[in-house]
Amino acid sequence: MAKTRQRWGTRLGVIMAVAGSAVGLGNFLRFPVQAASNGGGAFLIPYFISLLLLGIPLMWVEWTLGRYGGGYGHGTAPGIFHTMWQKNRFIKYFGVIGIFGPLVIFIYYTYIESWTLAYSFFAITGKYAGANTESAMSSFLAGFQGLERNGYFGSIAQAYIFFLITFAANIAVIYYGIKGGVEKLCNIAMPLLFICGIALVIRVLSLGSPDPARPSWSLSNGLAFMWNPDFRALASAKVWLAAAGQILFTLSVGIGVILTYASYLSKGDDVVLSGLSAVSMNEFAEVILGGCIVIPAAFVFFGPERIGSVASSGAFNLGFVTMPLIFQKIAMGAFFGCAWFLLLFLAGITSSVSLAQPAVAFLEDEFDITRPKAVTIFGIASFILCQPAIFFLGKGVVNELDFWGGTFCLVLFATIEVVLFAWIFGMNNAWEEIHRGADMRVPAVYKFIIKYVTPVFLLAILGSWFIQEGIPTIFMKNMPGSNRPFVFAARALLIGIFAVLAILVKIAWSRKRRVV
Ligand code: PFF
Repeated sequence: MAKTRQRWGTRLGVIMAVAGSAVGLGNFLRFPVQAASNGGGAFLIPYFISLLLLGIPLMWVEWTLGRYGGGYGHGTAPGIFHTMWQKNRFIKYFGVIGIFGPLVIFIYYTYIESWTLAYSFFAITGKYAGANTESAMSSFLAGFQGLERNGYFGSIAQAYIFFLITFAANIAVIYYGIKGGVEKLCNIAMPLLFICGIALVIRVLSLGSPDPARPSWSLSNGLAFMWNPDFRALASAKVWLAAAGQILFTLSVGIGVILTYASYLSKGDDVVLSGLSAVSMNEFAEVILGGCIVIPAAFVFFGPERIGSVASSGAFNLGFVTMPLIFQKIAMGAFFGCAWFLLLFLAGITSSVSLAQPAVAFLEDEFDITRPKAVTIFGIASFILCQPAIFFLGKGVVNELDFWGGTFCLVLFATIEVVLFAWIFGMNNAWEEIHRGADMRVPAVYKFIIKYVTPVFLLAILGSWFIQEGIPTIFMKNMPGSNRPFVFAARALLIGIFAVLAILVKIAWSRKRRVV
């Protein structure tokens, strides 16, 4: 017998929660690096095209499918896919990706999120204050991560304590449920996050040219570096792949979490305008806030010659090395440093709870167990799974998890769900379902886009990306030999996780058949 499912408290609450999932570390660290290294302002062209042809349609598809599945007591892809295509016995196993992907991202995302919590403490307590050069600050980070022992940290103990706090906070939010946990968190965290973000943008935009001896190291040149378009970049397939990948990652679509969040809607709740509102909040946070903080600030303090290498040194380096160095050079640096890391932490936790929710919902829905039980099982299993990401960080394990969970699964799952929606469920049914209770109509051209353009675009990405990046990654090209055993072990672990989830689906379905 279907038990009553949890429900969101308010409409604003669900929009905040979905926006909370979307606005994450990706907005403030991944986006600026991608844009600066893929054509600057010109990056926005493939980026916004991907938003219109992939991001927004997938957002609507996931909200609609989630609400539809929730009506049948299913909050995750195996059950939702099965309900849509009952004749197919295998489709539920494709749905496993919608639990597997979020779980894999959760494993490393939570650990990185815990660094941001740690660094907000370090900012106010002045712990990194002595590290004034890039190499000193890099050592500080490496010491913290347990990658080297140095004068700053003797072991990984501090990082581990912050991980425990972050992990416990995530579990507590999930434990209190959709309305009492996730919605409450997002209603507080999202406004606070926007306040921190806007304060930082104002601070950066008022930098001017701090060094009179070097007038070209100015804010306006920094903004120009970030945003002046280099249209030649548009000829490169790599730039288009980066833009499409960024859209999927930043909106949290194509992985299963929005399905789960939407499954807690009621049948007549609007999805069209709500989905679009969440997208708008994310784009404001990404393009306006994310685009005006790290790169322009780094330009002003590192200058035109160095900015290229700083921008391409990677998201972590920018966030945890470049930014703390800058905060030591500006007035009220401890305050703004704390605001920066708090911003990242709030962005992170509202995303990581969304990554945990599918696995918990799966246990609750398909095994009919209570939330405390489901959260306990999830807590123990995911805690164990996080350990390799913590202790083998330097061995390429996090990159490997990010590649399979955060890139490959996204594109694959997005393709499967949009094809199912438009072709198996059928575009006429789909159109009717999208508009149930809708506060605005989707422009008719989206009937065509969802049916043809989005799937073809995704298949093209899947194909060209597989050739460009998939093959070298699978064969571990460009990887130091000493990392290989660890990466092999990570792959074995991933296969193991997938197999366990698939077996759980099998067990759940055979139990149900017996009950019916
Ligand atoms: N959207 C998040 C970010 O931009 O950091 C990351 C993310 C969260 C991806 C949840 C996928 C997901 F399901």
